[in-house]
This record gives sequence, C-alpha cells and structure tokens, in this order.
Amino acid sequence: MSTIIHDIEVLKAKTSKISEIDFNNLKFGHVFSDHMLECDFKNGEWEAPKVVPYQPITLDPSAKIFHYGQSVFEGMKAYKDADGKVWLFRPLDNFKRLNISSKRLAIPELPENYFMDGLKALLKVDEDWIPEKEGSSLYIRPFVFASGNGFHASPADEYKFIICTAPSGAYFSGEVKVLIEEKYSRSANGGVGFAKAGGNYAGQFYPTQLAVEKGYQQVIWTDDTSHEYIEEAGAMNIFVRIDDTLVTAPTSDRILDGITRKSIIELAKSENIPVEVRKLSVKEVVEAAQNGSLKEMFGAGTAAVISPISGFGYKDNDYELPKLTDDSYASFLKKRITDIQTNKVEDPFGWRMEVK
Ligand SMILES: Cc1ncc(COP(=O)(O)O)c(C=O)c1O
Repeated sequence: MSTIIHDIEVLKAKTSKISEIDFNNLKFGHVFSDHMLECDFKNGEWEAPKVVPYQPITLDPSAKIFHYGQSVFEGMKAYKDADGKVWLFRPLDNFKRLNISSKRLAIPELPENYFMDGLKALLKVDEDWIPEKEGSSLYIRPFVFASGNGFHASPADEYKFIICTAPSGAYFSGEVKVLIEEKYSRSANGGVGFAKAGGNYAGQFYPTQLAVEKGYQQVIWTDDTSHEYIEEAGAMNIFVRIDDTLVTAPTSDRILDGITRKSIIELAKSENIPVEVRKLSVKEVVEAAQNGSLKEMFGAGTAAVISPISGFGYKDNDYELPKLTDDSYASFLKKRITDIQTNKVEDPFGWRMEVK
C-alpha cells in the first residue's frame, strides 16, 4: 500500500531498523535510514521519483557506471531543533550543483521538484532518524549514475537518481594534520575538478594513502601546473588566517564551489573579519608559519563543517599551527554557522529551509 507525501509516492518498509541504532554513538555515514528516494531516467526523461524501503539495487555488469564512471553526488545535512522542527541548509544550492556536475559528465539534469519534493518526502518518512543530539545530524547523499548498459564508450541511455540518508556524528575525531601535495593532482584546467564526480575522489585515494602512511590524515591539493598554490583538501575547501585576515583560494574549474566555503566568506564579512579570496601560495603559508603570522588553518565542508588543522607537512618539513584559542575564527565561525543551521539563532541570510 502506498501513500502520497509532497506529491511523491511512498512505499513504506514493513519493519524499521531504528531500534538497533545507538544514537549516542553515531559514526559518520555508517548506518542508513529505513527508506531511500529512487528515480529512473528512461526513454529520454526522468520518471516520477518514489520513496521506497532502503535496499540493494540490481545492475547489469555492462552498466556504464562500472566502465566509464558516469556518476555524480551531493552531500547535505538535515537538522532537528529543540522543538523537533526539521531544517535544511541552502538545499537549492546542492540541487543546482548536482545539475552542474551532471552536465559536465553528460548526465541528464534533474527537475527541481523531483529533487526537492523527493527529498522532503524522504525526510518526512524517516523523520525519526534525524538525530537530536548536539553535533549530530542526518547526512543526506543524493547521487546520479549511469545504469544503462553497453561497452561503447559513450553516455548511457539510462540513469538512476537516488537519495539515501545516514544519521551521523562527527566526520573527523581528533587533530587533523595535512600534507601539502607536491606531485599528484586531483584536477586540472578544463577537467572535472569543479564537479562532484565520483572519479575525483577515486583519484585522490592513492596519494592520500601515501600521506596517511607518513602520519597525515589529509592531502592539501595544489595547482596541477606548478604545485605552488593551495587549492583545497579531499572533501573540504581550505582557509588560512594570516594575522587577522582570512584567506581562501578563488574557485575555478579545478575547485569545488563549496557551500560551506561561500557561507563562511559571507558570515566573516558580516562580522567585519577581513577576508581575501585570492591565490594563496605555499611559500606564503610556509613563511607565515615561520614568522608566526599564520594563526589558523582550517577545512570547510558540509561533513566536517569547520575542521581545524593542527599542522602541515611540506617538502619533508613539518609546521605546527598554534593551539586553538577561544577567540579563534574556526571556533567562532563554526558556532555561527551551526547555530544558524540548527535554528538556534536568527538567519539573516535566508539560508535555512524548514521541512514540513
Ligand atoms: C572536493 C570538495 N571540496 C569542498 C567540499 C566542501 O563543499 P560543501 O561545503 O558544499 O560541502 C567538498 C564536499 O562537498 C568536496 O568534496
């Protein structure tokens, strides 16, 4: 028996797994809610999405996702406030970015109502899965991939759009030490770096494994031509604070246009924190670390929100960042942004959207 929520057909799971979940000890993206949204592209159009029980999907071995990597995704979160109201943060930006990514990978773009109404219906059905605990949220993973078959290296004729959700705790635990990359690149001019394409992440895993073996948790990617300019991290944009100025690299076709990044830039400006969006050389950061003007370095992204970096490695040298103080930009901006996301304070920017 199906019901309709927000114009979306809902087929409910017969049983719920929710009683098996320890909401006080959630890892990141490890357990999945009872339902998912599923939507197929066939015969040249997107069919109406449906909420169905969370379940495995069957694909033909010749499905083009396996061979040509046509796959894009998004990462967003739903929050529950003290009154049990459910909130999303700038969800239309995720929708638009998904379509920007799709276009670059020759994947058909989605209609806005399928994404937004589908997401709202899914959140309504799995409302009990949205954690209430401070620092936890429901991580949302929309993705689109080539389900159509064939060994011809050309775009598929069929695609699947799915949204799954995972009640999640913190993304990183403990200090984050990063290695500034001198050899490998995650993206190049004219490439797909600005898209959230699955293959961008596959390409990062091996260099990141090498960094992990050396004792770092993450790689900071530099520009592919000279490796002299800081671009971004694996799943985060990067900010540094030199004296009192916050600096971050401009977006380009090599860098993901992060929603957290642009929110931080706007928030910082509104708080009269000097912000510079400009090329940031590794040389400048190393010199600032040496002369003591490098006060902070942090990653910014939906998963980790703001993740302070405790030190970085470059050309076989290690540089430590000062210990975080109560007046650090990282702590201040993280509190400002999470307070807005979780409906604890006014949202003068109009970023928050209630899900009813
Ligand atoms: C490569 C990359 N850079 C930056 C980000 C941060 O983007 P956002 O703040 O929109 O999550 C992400 C995560 O989505 C990412 O995967």
